[in-house]
Amino acid sequence: MSAAVELKNVGKIFARADLNGTMAALEDVNLSVEPGAFVSLLGASGCGKSTLLRIIAGLETPTFGEAICGGEPIRGTDPRRGLVFQEHTLFAWLTVRGNIKFALKGTKKYKSERSEIDGWLELAGLAEFADSYPHQLSGGMRQRAALVRALAVSPDVLLLDEPLGALDSFTRMTLQDELARLWRERHSTMIMVTHDVDEAIYLSQRIIVMSARPGRVREILNVPMSYPRNRASDDFTELRGKILKSMDFAGDIQQDYAI
Ligand SMILES: Nc1ncnc2c1ncn2[C@@H]1O[C@H](COP(=O)(O)OP(=O)(O)OP(=O)(O)O)[C@@H](O)[C@H]1O
Ligand SMILES: [Mg+2]
Repeated sequence: MSAAVELKNVGKIFARADLNGTMAALEDVNLSVEPGAFVSLLGASGCGKSTLLRIIAGLETPTFGEAICGGEPIRGTDPRRGLVFQEHTLFAWLTVRGNIKFALKGTKKYKSERSEIDGWLELAGLAEFADSYPHQLSGGMRQRAALVRALAVSPDVLLLDEPLGALDSFTRMTLQDELARLWRERHSTMIMVTHDVDEAIYLSQRIIVMSARPGRVREILNVPMSYPRNRASDDFTELRGKILKSMDFAGDIQQDYAI
């Protein structure tokens, strides 16, 4: 079976008028994500995580190398690759039900069946809030709605850019459980960007640690723990230490630079 996502020697250079030149955001990134896997991209701010995800989404084109999805070169966006941003992007003028319905429209799967949408609302624990507008929900509920809206389209690959970043740590941990459950139920391939070492360990089968200036893959770590995971276990703690060391945390604060 071909990889769900494959990056071959991917590099990205941005023109930067503010720096009077160009800036290498990514260099020589190689990555292969198998179908159904949960992989996290972990790294300090500015190391190119979002750029990498946007390349996979088809929102950016690589300057060098190749980005492939399901055996085909990535050319522009595709409903088979869903994207969830750090800040929820629900349509403010639509209810929760309306948001899910809108996402389903225009896809082959659109039947507009009330029962289908109800199923998603149920899964997100939002059945009672089907007719609420985003501003009437809590931050966690909005993020849950955004997650199921992306999942409702049944993407082959779900790209998550710090999907829980805006939430407090308790809501965040609860939603990590939701995300793990949704992943197990839907079997989508998940590629998640996060700053949070614990979040990466809790959810992923594999963690790609990135370094900056330019963004590269520093290390790939497997997480050989069964689900659900215990944040307080010795294995967890040991891996956390290993990752922090790999991220070289004492000296990995980078600045933009011009070439
Ligand atoms: N459209 C763009 N034009 C110019 N430079 C950009 C653009 N997008 C990103 N960059 C630069 O590329 C580098 C990587 O940015 P990116 O957003 O991918 O980092 P990140 O790892 O997602 O950071 P964070 O954790 O803060 O979200 C940064 O130095 C940023 O300034
Ligand atoms: Mg980012």
